[in-house]
Amino acid sequence: MSAHRSPLGWQGRAAIITGAASGIGLALARALAARGVDLAIADIDTDALEAARAELAATGRRVIARRVDVSDDEDVRAAAAAFDVALGPVHLLFNNAGIDLSGRLDALSLAEWQRGFGVNVFGVVHGLRHFLPLLRRHGGRAQVVNTASGAGFWVHADAAMGAYAATKFAVVAISEALEHELAGTPVGVSVLCPGPVATGIAARSDRASALLRDSIAAGTAPETVATLVLDAIERDDFYVFTPTRMADGVRRRSERILDAIARVPA
Ligand SMILES: NC(=O)c1ccc[n+]([C@@H]2O[C@H](COP(=O)([O-])OP(=O)(O)OC[C@H]3O[C@@H](n4cnc5c(N)ncnc54)[C@H](O)[C@@H]3O)[C@@H](O)[C@H]2O)c1
Repeated sequence: MSAHRSPLGWQGRAAIITGAASGIGLALARALAARGVDLAIADIDTDALEAARAELAATGRRVIARRVDVSDDEDVRAAAAAFDVALGPVHLLFNNAGIDLSGRLDALSLAEWQRGFGVNVFGVVHGLRHFLPLLRRHGGRAQVVNTASGAGFWVHADAAMGAYAATKFAVVAISEALEHELAGTPVGVSVLCPGPVATGIAARSDRASALLRDSIAAGTAPETVATLVLDAIERDDFYVFTPTRMADGVRRRSERILDAIARVPA
């Protein structure tokens, strides 16, 4: 249900990116700066954030950097107020910050569950609560991009990533609902569902399996992901995938569900 919205254009637009100090978020920031987009970059890692700010500001774009914990509603509310003043109209929102939540369901502590859902799910919720109104208020063309994962459609049997997948299934569902709710408005919605991407996400995790570490080390370059995302925004595409081998797993899961539905007595 692509809405066939008018092209957004890049030059002179403004974007908010969470988790922008490294990985996919930083690659998005670099790609946007190269197209003439002003940036508000948010991250919890202040050293990496300052390095990103300095690099991006050298492109000549306006760059505002702020330490934000996306799992904290008040932190995100205050950031939205500050970005509003400093940036002016915002056209792009990337709810991208996320963390690994590897581990068997029976091994994860309650604090780990809460942290994972706090960042990966409530980070997006807080972004929609406080950043999205900035995109809607000016009444012009804008786009929200939520970063989910290929794991938002399919639970790998051997990766012990069910809890992470649960957070990303939630992001996919929130994004699908948001697409319905913003139909007929100039604000498009995309959901980025990457396969493995070569970032530091597994290195930042205490629990990432060797399987995950290896697949991420061999993953798609973040710069390639950023290009796919920007191309998708230009087309107002909803689902944005990156190279992945998940098609068979998703097909098996979908067929299993459809078979179960078909077996329900009339
Ligand atoms: N790398 C992959 O293989 C892969 C695959 C699918 C989805 N993703 C998703 O892509 C997104 C970006 O991940 P990445 O691979 O670039 O990882 P990354 O670790 O390189 O970057 C994530 C950034 O988010 C920041 N961050 C973490 N917690 C935060 C918080 N509470 N508030 C603000 N910032 C916070 C980190 O400091 C880091 O700079 C995440 O949502 C991740 O789940 C990654």
